[in-house]
Amino acid sequence: MATKDIGPKNPVAQTGDMVVDYVDHRTGAKTGLNWFLNRNIPAETGWFQTLGFTALALFGLQAVTGIILAMYYRPDPATAYESIRVITDDLTWGWLVRGMHKWGASAMVVVVFLHMGRVFFFGAYKYPRELTWVTGALLLVMTLFMGLTGYLLVWDQKAYWATVVAVNITASAPVLGPYIADILRAGPEFGPSTLSRFYSIHMLLIPGGMIAFIGIHLFLVSKLGVAEPPWSKRLQMVEREKEEAKRQAARDRLPTGRTRVPVRAPDHPPLRTPAPTDTSESATTPDGGGS
Ligand code: HEM
Repeated sequence: MATKDIGPKNPVAQTGDMVVDYVDHRTGAKTGLNWFLNRNIPAETGWFQTLGFTALALFGLQAVTGIILAMYYRPDPATAYESIRVITDDLTWGWLVRGMHKWGASAMVVVVFLHMGRVFFFGAYKYPRELTWVTGALLLVMTLFMGLTGYLLVWDQKAYWATVVAVNITASAPVLGPYIADILRAGPEFGPSTLSRFYSIHMLLIPGGMIAFIGIHLFLVSKLGVAEPPWSKRLQMVEREKEEAKRQAARDRLPTGRTRVPVRAPDHPPLRTPAPTDTSESATTPDGGGS
């Protein structure tokens, strides 16, 4: 469709364009974003493929609500429980932000499992997406660890004893178990340092790891494209063609297992020209030279 010239843009749009051009000229950001966001996807892509983005959106929600909570939470055994009470009962919208963070954590665990299930049932973990699966599996472990470390921060009886049980179970794992338990407890026993340890793991270590791995995960998704669902018509056609080729190969095979060489009429002229019939002394060789 032909575009219509409607004159120069307004000053705000012009300034916007100038800023975008300025940044793009120096960073190539437009090309990068274009590569990341605009690509062809399989025709049958549908709602199932939105679960990954749902997990991403929940991670964003956890990050925003977590930052707000961290502004009021005090990671010390003497003050932690009281600071949570203040957030819930006294702060404006505090109960809402805390509720969103708490329920968001459970929702994220459920959605990440659903996303993993969808990837599994679509066979999207197969070549060439093995590393996308591996980075995803690490993201799942980190998501679960976020839940474990966040649970203790409330510092009430339930949180304390549930975490004692979880860390004791970790300690019973072979070889590395006792070491990991010591790292989590910040020593051989539960104490004031355990709360700081869990707080720093929950606030810094795991979110940092998750941001890095989500970056790699999304890079791989962009690079490799989205896998086709198993009911994709194109995929079924490819499978049928492969199956037909296999059957044909089986038909061409001799009972001995050797493959029959097709008998074809030669499609080129004979390489040698017939020998000249003239046997007199003046006969010439095929290349025209004298004998
Ligand atoms: C924090 C957790 C996670 C986030 C934010 C996330 C995000 C995403 C997004 C946005 C996509 C592209 C859209 C889609 O296919 O849904 C995707 C694809 C993918 N994810 Fe995840 N993911 C997470 C966890 C996992 C887990 C636990 C696994 C498996 C162990 C996994 C394996 C994959 C694979 C193999 C793909 C490619 C699927 C395809 O090409 O169809 N992801 N992920």
